[in-house]
Order: sequence, then C-alpha cells, then structure tokens
Amino acid sequence: MEFFEVLEKRYSCRDFKDKEVEQELIDKILEAGRLSPTAVNFQPERIYVCKSKEILEKLKTACKYTFNAGLIFVIAYNTKEAWVRKSDDRGFGMVDATIVTTNMMNAITALGLGSCFVCSMHEDKVEEILGLPENIKVLALLPTGYPNEVKKHNTRKDIKEIVEYR
Ligand SMILES: Cc1cc2nc3c(=O)[nH]c(=O)nc-3n(C[C@H](O)[C@H](O)[C@H](O)COP(=O)(O)O)c2cc1C
Repeated sequence: MEFFEVLEKRYSCRDFKDKEVEQELIDKILEAGRLSPTAVNFQPERIYVCKSKEILEKLKTACKYTFNAGLIFVIAYNTKEAWVRKSDDRGFGMVDATIVTTNMMNAITALGLGSCFVCSMHEDKVEEILGLPENIKVLALLPTGYPNEVKKHNTRKDIKEIVEYR
C-alpha cells in the first residue's frame, strides 16, 4: 500500500475478527517498530507481544480498551536507556515509544490489519501483569487483528487551523 494511502486508510479499529494474526505479519509489524528513529539512536523501546489467553485476560483488568483482541502489543521504554536533555533534564523515552507505536500502527494498516492506539489504562497494573522492572514504563497498548468492520478515520481540523507559515 502506498504511504499516503496508509495514512488515509488507518483508523482506530475497535472490533476484531476471531482470526489469529500470522507470525509473519507480527514479525513485519515488529520490524516497523525496530526501524523507528529514537533520540541519539539510544533505542530505549521495549515491545511485549501479548497473545496468550492468560495475559490477555489479565490485561482486561488493567485496561477497558482491549476490544477483545487476540493480539496486543504493549509498547514501553527503558528510562535508563532513554536520552535525557541536559538543558531541562527532560527524558525522551515517551517520545521514542510514541514514534515506535505510530510506525507499528501504520504498518498494521499497510498489512490489511487494524489496531487502536490505547493509552487509557492503569499502567502500574499493566507493568505488574507483565512483571516489568521499575525502569520499564508502559506507554501504550496496540490491540491488533483483522478488522470486523469497514470504517474511516475520524474527522480532522482544517489544515488552516493547525498550520501557520511564519
Ligand atoms: C495517544 C493516544 C491515545 C489514545 N488512547 C485511546 C484510548 O485509550 N482508548 C481508545 O479507544 N482510543 C484511544 N485513542 C484513539 C483516538 O481516540 C483516535 O485516534 C482519535 O479519535 C482519532 O480517530 P482515528 O484514529 O479513527 O482517526 C488514542 C489515540 C492516541 C493517539
């Protein structure tokens, strides 16, 4: 699929078919995450591929928005590996993980699958369920699967409302 077609076709999918996503497609989605740029190329991202019934059931207790997906990518970052800007001590792990999530989300669309970027969750609980150490912070869940719907993305503001030439 052509790049701009991917951007146009991607929407937040919240209804999935009961059909398993093939490992070959999972590998491609993970590669899209791995190829993402990160600050100073520190690559602090961590991706957890959740497929087992046990973990998926547990994730439901930490997040209302898993949409019964049979596959959930949990995207996190290592605070000890992320770049910290000296001038204001700001860590960029969350930005890096956001880019990784976005690239994965677009790859999912390009592969004919659907997903939804989900941040509304009890992240402490997700971290506990996955047994993550304190330095690994969860950014997002990407419930993923074959779409059980034909939908378009939400409306957007007019370009004039968001862009200024100076
Ligand atoms: C950072 C971020 C967090 C989001 N969190 C949630 C969420 O917790 N639950 C949910 O259903 N959708 C969530 N969304 C999806 C947005 O609601 C959705 O992208 C937006 O309404 C635009 O719709 P579209 O993706 O179909 O274009 C999130 C999206 C982003 C980018």
